[in-house]
Amino acid sequence: MTVRVVLGVSGGIAAYKVCELLRRFTESGHDVTVVPTASALEFVGAPTWSALSGKPVATEVWTRVHEVPHVRIGQSADVVVVAPATADLLAKAAHGLADDLLTNTLLTARCPVVFAPAMHTEMWEHPATQANVATLRRRGAVVLEPADGRLTGADTGKGRLPDPAEIFELVLGVLDRGADASQDLAGRKVVVSAGGTREYLDPVRFLGNRSSGLQGYALARAAASRGAHVTLVSANVTLPDPAGVSVVRVETTQQLRDAVVAATATADAVVMAAAPADFRPTAVSDAKIKKADDGSAPAIELEQNPDILAEISHDRAREDAVIVGFAAETGDATGSVLELGRAKLARKACDLLVVNDVSGGAVFGSADNEAVVLAADGAAVEVPRGSKTALAHVIWDEVLRRFAD
Ligand code: CTP
Repeated sequence: MTVRVVLGVSGGIAAYKVCELLRRFTESGHDVTVVPTASALEFVGAPTWSALSGKPVATEVWTRVHEVPHVRIGQSADVVVVAPATADLLAKAAHGLADDLLTNTLLTARCPVVFAPAMHTEMWEHPATQANVATLRRRGAVVLEPADGRLTGADTGKGRLPDPAEIFELVLGVLDRGADASQDLAGRKVVVSAGGTREYLDPVRFLGNRSSGLQGYALARAAASRGAHVTLVSANVTLPDPAGVSVVRVETTQQLRDAVVAATATADAVVMAAAPADFRPTAVSDAKIKKADDGSAPAIELEQNPDILAEISHDRAREDAVIVGFAAETGDATGSVLELGRAKLARKACDLLVVNDVSGGAVFGSADNEAVVLAADGAAVEVPRGSKTALAHVIWDEVLRRFAD
């Protein structure tokens, strides 16, 4: 089925990046109508939008009036994406102004609407903009948090347009779930940890593990597409930042623990998808450790790292928070994969445990996953082999069910 996408573009320098977003939609077979504002055309001209979308482009309601475009474009859309969304456009949308084709379209659209704001930090943080964002979110729109980083000039801060490839993924996620279920995590604050920690031996060497971060990033992306405010604590992952997600970067288990504990204080849910190293060297050499001439190798003494999942589950910052762990099990003489999972769920005292059978190392770095989600209340949900995104949505469904309890 061809999806009808309306791509609204308002007047910000990030408009040039949206050409790539447009290409991703058209190359995957979607029908895209670009509706730029007049000021957007100051940054990227109509011929570019028209050539890339294969359609005429209008900014005003006075073009092809007989087709009643100010009503038809919005009514027939499956999703409206506004990227970049400027402070001015957000203000107009929040107040229902309709002085050009894009703002008219926003009033007539009944499908999911995604705004990807981009502006200077001061404009984003201004109480007027924040109030407008809150209004739009309350009405069911997805308003992504801007990314952190280099802004138009030499300055840096929050306000960048998220990676176009990640906006594309998020929009697909919103479309997958349809208008009704799409924002069921709106207003929820969630924390996701992802990746594998590194425990340094010296400035260049570390002990690490095979976690790719794919499952944690899929969880963060899925939660953001369902409207949650997501903090992603990321340990040594090289994937692009998911759109609309605040990313905190860490390296070691201790740093991961500190970041997770800090973010958990106010969180409705925490999902520990990271693979923190259980052990760290007792001493980290300041200088690179040299090879000995006699051919001997240094002995590495290890000590235990904190168990973050057990800590946040036992000493709960919020009694009503839902805490989710992962268990990578292979099964052994002491029990099956599921028996070991049940025992781990009890030991860690979390609410849900996602149990993966990792015999043979199958899940690491793979786009697919299969799992059983065990609950402290005795429930078990089997998730057949499928994408990590599909598993992420099942996990959020189970979390959401526990919010309602
Ligand atoms: N975890 C954690 N802190 C650690 C180790 C693990 O928070 N130091 C979390 C992981 O993020 C995961 C869960 O605990 O959600 C299970 O991790 P796993 O390594 O399977 O469990 P362990 O406690 O290390 O148990 P085992 O003895 O089976 O290795």
